[in-house]
Amino acid sequence: MARLVIISNRVAVPKAGSRAGGLEVAVLAALKKHPGIWFGWSGRVSSKGLETRTVEADKISYVVTDLPKEDYDEYYNGFANRVLWPILHYRLDLAEFSRQDLGGYLRVNEHFADELHKILRPDDIVWVHDYHLLTLAKALRERGHKNKIGFFLHTPFAAPEIITALPQHERIIWAMSHFDLVGFQTEIDASNYARYVETECRYPVKGHWTYDTGERIVKIGVFPVGIEVESFSRMARRAARSSFVSGVLASLSGRAMIIGVDRLDYSKGIDARIDAFEKFLATNPEWRNNVTYLQITPKSRSTIQEYAAMERLVSEKVGQVNGNYGEASWTPIRYINRTHSRTALAGLYHAARAALVTPLRDGMNLVAKEYVAAQNPDDPGVLILSRFAGAALECKPALLVNPYDTASVGAAIARALSMPIEERRARQDALFKIISQNDINDWPDRFLSMLTGETVPSQEQAAVQDAAPKDSGSQPYRSIGGPRALPGR
Ligand code: G6P
Repeated sequence: MARLVIISNRVAVPKAGSRAGGLEVAVLAALKKHPGIWFGWSGRVSSKGLETRTVEADKISYVVTDLPKEDYDEYYNGFANRVLWPILHYRLDLAEFSRQDLGGYLRVNEHFADELHKILRPDDIVWVHDYHLLTLAKALRERGHKNKIGFFLHTPFAAPEIITALPQHERIIWAMSHFDLVGFQTEIDASNYARYVETECRYPVKGHWTYDTGERIVKIGVFPVGIEVESFSRMARRAARSSFVSGVLASLSGRAMIIGVDRLDYSKGIDARIDAFEKFLATNPEWRNNVTYLQITPKSRSTIQEYAAMERLVSEKVGQVNGNYGEASWTPIRYINRTHSRTALAGLYHAARAALVTPLRDGMNLVAKEYVAAQNPDDPGVLILSRFAGAALECKPALLVNPYDTASVGAAIARALSMPIEERRARQDALFKIISQNDINDWPDRFLSMLTGETVPSQEQAAVQDAAPKDSGSQPYRSIGGPRALPGR
């Protein structure tokens, strides 16, 4: 395959301590199969202005640029996270539009295009990730690039009735039709975007989710992000025996543990979840002093007002529940704002009797899938999952809940903690099969095959083919990468 060039706002440069969540998992899976370039923001704000540098590691070139303070404020904190993020998550009430921030957003997309212009080759395959870079393909086309350019949105895509409330949505959302392929996590997101294209852009329809813009054929596809199931399971089994997890378990003195792991973000519904836990304690007194809820929540985007308000709200609620129900020897909620390694989390998932994954809206949510992968099949815990997480479309055997209905989430906690072993095993078996059928290792090739219109061999498969005797008639990678039916769809 031609060289793969991936662009996202955040780049997980090895050992630089950057954190890009599910996006990182997905992009690294793609670059593991097709080593190339990962381009984006370094995560640093520099007074010296835009500086680009390259770090080489594991056959991947990480090309990163710093951002000046003005761009950080207007593009990242401003238009991307105070306008697009809330709107894509159906929170029009939180969107704070300003023309200045829109200007910053367009400027950084242009800057990224200028930097890419210096390194792009005509046959590179370009893959842009997430809502920070919706206008990047347009900026690249304006610089003459005719490459195949794909886009994948890691967040939800709201209904067009919400998207059209974005002032100047024509400039931002229409620009997405400069991509050849626009990919989403779920059918719901894809059909929302298709409806936007059909009602607002009115391009002639050339087939299912296929449009003719006059300049190119744009396709829409669904590519739910998964995890590396086998290796995560292995990691969880190992981590469960670590001194870290043993220490946590010892500190619980035999109490059951419920776990929640989320960035501190209003879309994650952490405050409503704490209300639900309080309802559970109020209505199930037998569980008081018998269960501990561990909520791990690294702070995020803290300089944005709504995030700072969220931080205060969650801390207050945790304090109230602990104050009302805690005892000298028992703290009902342990609330931690520190980032933990994936290994430590895997071990904690393995040890937890239930996981609370209850976002108000989420593109996918890999914590749900990681929790399933981490369970002991003989004595598994129970996944309580919001119906508004993308993962719910696949993980139907979880206890699906409406996170706005705190009483029913409280009841689901009680049900999870007293669920008979047979039911837990049956749900776990079904869930494990589902997540295994959508392993992240297959994900990049599903997208790239649709983008390029060809079956895409990974580097190893290409090497196998090159080494194969020419007269053997073997075509080792013929079946790789075609569209595959996914569970629950
Ligand atoms: C979400 C977004 C990613 C983003 C991540 C962390 O998962 O889809 O693009 O990198 O959150 O947010 P941050 O603002 O810290 O990059």
